[in-house]
Amino acid sequence: MMDWTDRHCRVFHRALTRGARLYTEMLTTGAVIHGDRSRLLGFDPCEHPLALQLGGSNPDDLAESARIGADYGYGEINLNVGCPSDRVKDGRFGACLMAEPELVARCVAAMKAVVGVPVTVKCRIGIDDQDPEVALDALARAVVAAGADGLIVHARKAWLNGLSPKENRDIPPLDYGRVYRLKEAMRDTPIAINGGVSSIEDAAVHLEQVDGVMLGRAAYQEPWRLLAVDHLIFGAPPPHRSMHEVIESIFPYIERERAQGTRLHAITRHLVGAFHGVAGARAFRRALAENCTGADAGLDQLREALSLVPQDAAVRVAA
Ligand SMILES: Cc1cc2nc3c(=O)[nH]c(=O)nc-3n(C[C@H](O)[C@H](O)[C@H](O)COP(=O)(O)O)c2cc1C
Repeated sequence: MMDWTDRHCRVFHRALTRGARLYTEMLTTGAVIHGDRSRLLGFDPCEHPLALQLGGSNPDDLAESARIGADYGYGEINLNVGCPSDRVKDGRFGACLMAEPELVARCVAAMKAVVGVPVTVKCRIGIDDQDPEVALDALARAVVAAGADGLIVHARKAWLNGLSPKENRDIPPLDYGRVYRLKEAMRDTPIAINGGVSSIEDAAVHLEQVDGVMLGRAAYQEPWRLLAVDHLIFGAPPPHRSMHEVIESIFPYIERERAQGTRLHAITRHLVGAFHGVAGARAFRRALAENCTGADAGLDQLREALSLVPQDAAVRVAA
C-alpha cells in the first residue's frame, strides 16, 4: 500500500504469518526502469512468498519491469488495474484501465512472454458508469486469454470523477456477490477477493466461494489479526505464540538494519497497531512515538516500549 507499507513492514508481517502472500506497494514502470532499483526493489529473503505490484500501461515497459522484478527474485508479478488516484489516471494506468481490457491483455501477454513466475492482475469490478456484470467479465476474460495466472478483485467500483482515492476505498458499495459470480464463471482461474474484509474469520468465510482473500487496511492497522492466519487459514501452527515473541523475533533484523543506517522509527512505525485492547497498548504506542523516533534510538528503546505491555495481556494464539 503506497505510503504505508515497505520492506520493513513486510518483515514484521512475515513474522506474523508464514502462509500469507505479501505484496509490495504499487511501483510504476518509470520508477522500476529508471529509479534506484536496490532501494525500490530490494527485500529480505524472509519476505517470501512475495509479489511485486507494477503500475503502467505500456506493454514494453511492463515487460521490462516484470523481467527486472523476476530477476530480483519476486515470486509473482501483479499489475495494478485498480488504483484511482489522479496521478495514476493522468499516466493512463490503474483503475482507468478497466475501460481498456485489450490494452491490459497486451500488457499481460508482454509480461508473460519474459518471466517464468505467475503474472496476476488486481482490478475493480468496474469504473464510473460501467456495468460490472459486463466490465469485470470483459477484463477478466481478456487477461486470462492473454495468460494471466489469476485475479485479485477489489469488490467495488472506482468512481474516477469526483471521489478522492480515500473515498474510492469506502464510498462505492461493496459487491462481493459480483466476485463470487466471476469465480462461478471462471472455475479454472484463481480468483481472490479484496475490500472491507476486517477479520481472518471473515476471510475464511469468503474462502468458501473464492480462492484467496487480500487484506489491505485491516492487515496494516490491526496487524495482530495476522497472528491467526496460519492457524485458521492454513491449518498450521502460528509462527509465534504472542506479539512479544513476534517483535522479539525481528530484533536481529532491526539490528542489521540499524547497523546499515536505517532509523529505528522506519521499522517501528509499522508496529503502532501491534497491540490492541490490551493493558499497556496505549503506553506502548506513546513510547514508540516519544522514545523510538530519534536518530539514536535502538533496540533498548524498543525493549523498553515492549516492557510496558504485560506478556500475559498480549494476544496469544492457540498453537
Ligand atoms: C494508504 C493506502 C495505499 C494503497 N496502495 C495500494 C497500492 O499500492 N496498490 C494496490 O493495489 N492497492 C492499494 N491500496 C488499496 C488496497 O490494496 C485495497 O484494495 C483497499 O484498501 C481495499 O481493501 P481493504 O478494505 O482490505 O483495505 C491502498 C490502500 C491504502 C489505504
